[in-house]
Amino acid sequence: MEDKRISPSSSLVDAKSSVADSSVLQIRGGHSLQGHVRISGAKNSALVIMAGALLCSGDCRIHNVPSLADVEKMGRVLSALGVNLQQSGSVLDVNASQITTSKAPYELVTQLRASFFAIGPILARLGVAQMPLPGGCAIGARPVDLHVRGLQAMGAEVQVEHGICNAYVPGHSRRLQGAKIYLDIASVGATETLMMAATLAEGETIIENAAREPEVVDLANFCIAMGAKIQGAGTSTITIEGVPELHSTEYTIIPDRIEAGTFLVAGAITRSELTLIEVVPDHLLPVIAKLRDIGVTVLEEAPHSLRVLPADSLKATDIETLPYPGFPTDMQAPFMALLTLSEGDSLINESVFENRLRHASELNRLGADIRVKGNAAFVRGVPMLSGAPVLATDLRAAAALVLAGLAAEGKTIIQGLHHLDRGYDQLDVKLQQLGANIERLPSS
Ligand code: EPZ
Repeated sequence: MEDKRISPSSSLVDAKSSVADSSVLQIRGGHSLQGHVRISGAKNSALVIMAGALLCSGDCRIHNVPSLADVEKMGRVLSALGVNLQQSGSVLDVNASQITTSKAPYELVTQLRASFFAIGPILARLGVAQMPLPGGCAIGARPVDLHVRGLQAMGAEVQVEHGICNAYVPGHSRRLQGAKIYLDIASVGATETLMMAATLAEGETIIENAAREPEVVDLANFCIAMGAKIQGAGTSTITIEGVPELHSTEYTIIPDRIEAGTFLVAGAITRSELTLIEVVPDHLLPVIAKLRDIGVTVLEEAPHSLRVLPADSLKATDIETLPYPGFPTDMQAPFMALLTLSEGDSLINESVFENRLRHASELNRLGADIRVKGNAAFVRGVPMLSGAPVLATDLRAAAALVLAGLAAEGKTIIQGLHHLDRGYDQLDVKLQQLGANIERLPSS
């Protein structure tokens, strides 16, 4: 990634999206892969840590930032708020000493749900925030009621009108107050929004039924590095003691466990031996356990490396997606691709999002045998998939189609690459380097 200053008008993300829209992936399947792949920084850490940098009135240097369209978009949201960002490769320098407005840009926030999480830091810093509602997306309605109710518990007044969440902290101090908050759902985003808001609040905040994802812990560690007082991140109860301000820091983002899981499945579905470097195996325990259920051997090589070995046969298994440390919903689509070629019947229950099985119909276009009923997918293994033109409907669906294309006999053409480029750092290039016959072509 070249050096660049990110500004509200920086058009790289538009260019990237438009390039993605004007190109397709062509995959000729049936090839095994080999070699090793370095896993990039976690998308879902990078986005929320960028929002977290708003809490600091000094310089923050963030390492291991992945090169993603969503990161570009988040940079443009922050830049529109007056934040100074400089990126050099995977290092991002952020200075939020001058937040020039509390009003986030409507057209950007509605395209990037994670940018809504910035309402916490903005409210904590300025005492006022106008944040567009992120709106729904392909996988569900994606409400933000838990974020709003938590901020209200901390003393904010919040009204929603014309699609914008208007929040302000009444009173002379305009400072949020610590509160005891119970989340009806262990929401990742709500936990992150409220944890960030609480770092600068007056007094103690306790978040019960908090999300336990590694990206929540990563955000907490980033805030602690800036001087925040947070305990219990990674457990269901997080306690935050508010402080007057946070100071500059330098921080390195954790590896992306979902990218790592995607490559483990790539090895499994192509019956290949692959080595993943710069991973945190402990973040992948439910994924590794499920691969072993299917008959795939995954070995922990060195402290930050995993090796997947070719399986003689793939066995059917059942999957239910759950909040961490349960099986991650973001790995549901990649595993569905794998299970289409497993012997026997598998049942997949998508318990986190209400509409995250749309990739099933596209996998059926490749010869899979999947029946969807409500939030359940019944996958009957088939001996072989056959290449065809398919359309990605969301980020992880795009990954599932790439994985299926790697195994399918013949040529698969995948449209909707802007979904893929939102959340995977050069997935096609990395697969090419592992020996896959995959190339990005003009859609014409
Ligand atoms: C985060 O989304 C991730 N995104 C998602 O990754 C991930 O799938 C999800 O967590 C679950 O792990 C980022 O971190 C940027 P939630 P988030 O709030 O925070 C409901 C990917 O592919 N809910 O934990 O939006 C919600 O509708 C993306 O990388 C409310 O009802 O997820 C969902 O059913 C996709 N009210 C459930 O909770 C709220 O106020 C879990 O959502 C908030 C959430």
